[in-house]
Amino acid sequence: MDSRRRSNASTPVESESPSSVDTPATESSVLFDNLDELLRRLPQENQYILVTGGLGFIGSHTTLELLKSGYNVIVIDNLSNSFEVVFDRIKILAQKFHDTHGSKMPSLRLHAHDYRDTSALKDLLQEYRLASRWGTPKSKIAGVIHFAAYKAVEESIRHPLKYYANNVSGLIDFASTLGDFGIKTFIFSSSATVYGTLATSGLPLKEELCVHREEVYIDSNGETQTLQPGCTGITNPYGRTKWICETILADLAASDPEWTIVVLRYFNPVGCDSSGLLGEDPRQAPTNLLPVVVKVMTGQYAELQMFGTDWDTTDGTAIRDFIHVTDLARGHIAALSTANEGKLAENFRTFNLGTGSGNSVLDVVTTMESVISKPIPRKAADRREGDVGSCVAVVDRSQQELQWKTQKSLKDACEDICNFLDVSGLSS
Ligand code: UD1
Repeated sequence: MDSRRRSNASTPVESESPSSVDTPATESSVLFDNLDELLRRLPQENQYILVTGGLGFIGSHTTLELLKSGYNVIVIDNLSNSFEVVFDRIKILAQKFHDTHGSKMPSLRLHAHDYRDTSALKDLLQEYRLASRWGTPKSKIAGVIHFAAYKAVEESIRHPLKYYANNVSGLIDFASTLGDFGIKTFIFSSSATVYGTLATSGLPLKEELCVHREEVYIDSNGETQTLQPGCTGITNPYGRTKWICETILADLAASDPEWTIVVLRYFNPVGCDSSGLLGEDPRQAPTNLLPVVVKVMTGQYAELQMFGTDWDTTDGTAIRDFIHVTDLARGHIAALSTANEGKLAENFRTFNLGTGSGNSVLDVVTTMESVISKPIPRKAADRREGDVGSCVAVVDRSQQELQWKTQKSLKDACEDICNFLDVSGLSS
């Protein structure tokens, strides 16, 4: 039996009928093909997705898109870099969506604790456990999307242990507890940062550049290439935590074929939901480009420092692949359904989530200026430690295998940010 299909068999269902869910191992090979089909056709009413860090920037947008897609969502968030009001706003937006479409609003619950609080986690998972007569734990939780992590590059250089403890040790305990409860579909938030200085090497940033097992692939010249596991030139501890977590998950998937693990390598998420009700609103001082631009637009910072104007790019500023956060959020839905339908090429698979094209820091500033019809004060500054000149995704794999592609532009992102500032009463 195909192991990926077997993991689907633990997909939660409302009915706890032993005949449909608790198939004895001896009968499973004959029954599972039909059972898979049956489980897939059942309504998602009793299917839950657990989202850690679900009130953060990417987490909140993904939670919203999950609810719109009909999934019940359980959020774990310790509010360390987010606000509880985001929870109410997600609910309002999802309810509005379902009212407009005449569909039923799925359930949404918040558990406001650290994802590393194993005792609270076990209590929660116990609530969603399905009775199983055959010893294998089963759960109504059909998958987990794990966002909760520290992500400030500069802070990670100053406090590496804080980053390794939360991002790496936390993941080990978390995955181990999930496994104990039979929850083995896992989507992991990774980052383009794992490509390190490869980003500026001029090589197209394909997933194959950073692999965890030896991989053979055919390059654009039709030649067979063999890739060795490893990564080159990661520039900061934050990036290393992401790489290490990917490796741990690759080893876990290799050790137990019941796991289905999707690693999503984000490029530069920007923008917000077009309603303007959700946005990037960190508690900590922002370091990412767009949130800093917003601080300048709202008069909280006098000017934007453009770090590095001597990169080998057309205007000298660094180039990034800016992806609208709603597109990114939808990438998670695509990953989840591909995983749960048993359509992943392997039970551990990495995907770039980006647009496939780059814009410079200056492009971002001028696009925002054209949207607000005002100049944004800025000045040239030295390169920032750990930065790379260019970082743009190759998105063939995610387009082909996840059947997903981006729909929104940088201008859309700038307009949506302005909506957020209007709604929040922050626009000047
Ligand atoms: C980095 C990581 C990314 C990670 C993100 C999390 C790399 C290659 N990328 O993104 O994986 O998810 O941090 O925080 O390590 N800039 C300015 N002025 C500012 C702020 C930024 O000029 O005030 C410039 C930066 O120097 C950079 C570009 O804008 O060239 C984008 O910066 P940022 O938004 O911080 O993202 P990355 O550094 O690309």
